[in-house]
Amino acid sequence: MKRIGVLCSGGDAPGMNANVRAVVRAALERGITPYGIDRGYAGFLAGALRPLTSRDVSGIVNLGGTFLRTARCREFHEPAGRTQAAAVLRQHQIDGLVVCGGDGSFTGAQLLHREHGVAVVGTPGTIDNDLAGTDHTIGFDTAVQTAVEACDRIRDTAHSHDRVFVVEVMGRHAGFIALEVAVAAGAEVALLPEHPAHDTAWCCQQIALMQQRGKTSMLVVVAEGVGRGEQVAAAIDAQVPGTSARATVLGHVLRGGSPSSDDRVLASLTGADAVAALCEGATCHHCGVIAGRLVRTPLEEVVGVKKPLNPATVALLGTLAT
Ligand code: F6P
Repeated sequence: MKRIGVLCSGGDAPGMNANVRAVVRAALERGITPYGIDRGYAGFLAGALRPLTSRDVSGIVNLGGTFLRTARCREFHEPAGRTQAAAVLRQHQIDGLVVCGGDGSFTGAQLLHREHGVAVVGTPGTIDNDLAGTDHTIGFDTAVQTAVEACDRIRDTAHSHDRVFVVEVMGRHAGFIALEVAVAAGAEVALLPEHPAHDTAWCCQQIALMQQRGKTSMLVVVAEGVGRGEQVAAAIDAQVPGTSARATVLGHVLRGGSPSSDDRVLASLTGADAVAALCEGATCHHCGVIAGRLVRTPLEEVVGVKKPLNPATVALLGTLAT
């Protein structure tokens, strides 16, 4: 292995910079030239890649976003796009590729391997935490912390006005962020896509029940995969007498900011292991951390595989919100 490429793809996540830094430095230590690919698969198709030195990744471990930038690339969904990408790799004599991204990015990587024999290794870069093969994804911890800080502030005003607040958080089709935020922020209700029976009507019943128990201000966390926080707030106002609910959408705020130490360490471990995996012959794998240990999983056991929420954490929500 003489040259490897590294790119970030899909939504950015705090810790992607730390991941690229680890890939670059682990590669250089092995005498491999790392190539940074700009703007994900889009830059790849445009041939926007350059060799990176250790100095190119200095001073970025603490920075949110990704200095390589990222993109969602429709052309890469087509076979012709992947053929073009494989040609770019051949032209630059790049033997392996590290892709920091989520499920969609890994789908593209897997196809690139299947169709063109390119050795690919994925590192888990998404705030959503919806990837099998790792306990946590890069950026999840930071996103949760950001959301919890926002909820703490919202609690202050909710309490002062005796209001119900609905906070909508990202997570795409998964409820990992919402669940963790709900427990950490002490929310009364969480609406999670994995638990469809706990819908808006159920939420209104819970709010009414807690009113009867003497609660005057409450926090509801809604995962974006369930629906709009505004609609939940409107339903609460319509169905629970005496409420004047407000909704806040945290949205892309959760994607920014300096990565937490956990995210930096996870990003560094998986970035360095991705290089080791390529050198040891991995051809289509994912590098994650499970129970504190680096784990390499074939991409086919990661792509499209639904990771379950921790049932103990879900059950805890009910216990605590009384
Ligand atoms: O996958 C990360 C994520 O932030 C999701 O939580 C969210 O649904 C999506 O990306 C938003 O994507 P975009 O930035 O393209 O609007």
